[in-house]
Amino acid sequence: MLILGIDTSCDDTCISVIEVKSQKSKVKSFKILSNITSSQAKLHAKYGGVYPFLAKREHQKNLPVVFKKATKGIDVSEIDLIGVTIGPGLEPCLWQGINFAKDLAKKINLKIVPVNHIEAHILANFIEENLKLFPAICLVVSGGHTQLILMKKIGEYKLIGETRDDAAGECFDKIARILGLDYPGGPAIDEQARRWKFEIRNSKFEIKLPRPMISQKNYDFSFSGLKTAVLYDFRSRSPKVRKSKEYIQEMTKEVQQAIIDVLISKTIGVAKEFRVKTIILGGGVAASQELKKQFKTACLNSKFKHLVPPKNLCTDNAAMVGVAAFYHRDKATFDFEKIEANANLKI
Ligand SMILES: Nc1ncnc2c1ncn2[C@@H]1O[C@H](COP(=O)(O)OP(=O)(O)OP(=O)(O)O)[C@@H](O)[C@H]1O
Ligand SMILES: [Mg+2]
Repeated sequence: MLILGIDTSCDDTCISVIEVKSQKSKVKSFKILSNITSSQAKLHAKYGGVYPFLAKREHQKNLPVVFKKATKGIDVSEIDLIGVTIGPGLEPCLWQGINFAKDLAKKINLKIVPVNHIEAHILANFIEENLKLFPAICLVVSGGHTQLILMKKIGEYKLIGETRDDAAGECFDKIARILGLDYPGGPAIDEQARRWKFEIRNSKFEIKLPRPMISQKNYDFSFSGLKTAVLYDFRSRSPKVRKSKEYIQEMTKEVQQAIIDVLISKTIGVAKEFRVKTIILGGGVAASQELKKQFKTACLNSKFKHLVPPKNLCTDNAAMVGVAAFYHRDKATFDFEKIEANANLKI
């Protein structure tokens, strides 16, 4: 079975074709035949974030090109199903993918499965089917979301906690902007933090950022105070220090550690409370090697199984949409009128 996935929820135009490898009607695994992402990051860099109407225009331009690349060497008439992200995301962007999916589905007479982008981030971990993981706690950490979700099985979720203000990825992006680093901020901060060589006791600047809400007995997050703390520290330094590589490296290291400390502490806490078997990560921030490494250790110490998608399936991609469409193939429909963008779609 071949599934074409489409995602235009934010600033990446993503199309993928996956093949479902099944044995006696039971899923074994998925083979990713193509997974094309056309990033608009450079275009949005000057705004320090995504500019929705610019993103919409780019999706419109990019979709046919990305489709051509994603289906190169693949007989389009052999595709069995289309999955498309309907939300959450930027509404004008979502519509671009949805309308493209509808036109294509009409042309080749296929059904469409509407896909939830956050669930797709989680299901990026299910490229190999593994059903012995549940119940699980999922931490979705992306540009727009920081959510703790109880997962009883594929398709059954309960939101346990989420950010009250900025998402973790958004916090990285805004702090990178303060520090004069590239957009998106997550990879830029990751790179600078990796260069940091000092021991804390030899710290030149003695930067100590807050770990917001870490000891509160709830499972919500808040990252906007962290951004403000960085801004105050940055403003208190001389122009020479602000530009120095030592300051940038020490600051990025501390920012990264503050975010990781909060994410790990809250996630392990909720996993213990709900007595789950597994902790599942998803979303762009999970692409951070340091986050992965520290989560792995924390999960081993607390005896939880632990899943993180490969790096290219953490940030936005359409292979995860194809996988989600497969697991929800019972929702496939020809009733295209009912497939609409929902910017605030909940899990
Ligand atoms: N190596 C990394 N370390 C930390 N953060 C990262 C890394 N790579 C990417 N990010 C962050 O991930 C975010 C993008 O993730 P993703 O593509 O899942 O978000 P989105 O689709 O924009 O938001 P959402 O999924 O909530 O709609 C950005 O904020 C980016 O800074
Ligand atoms: Mg995303």
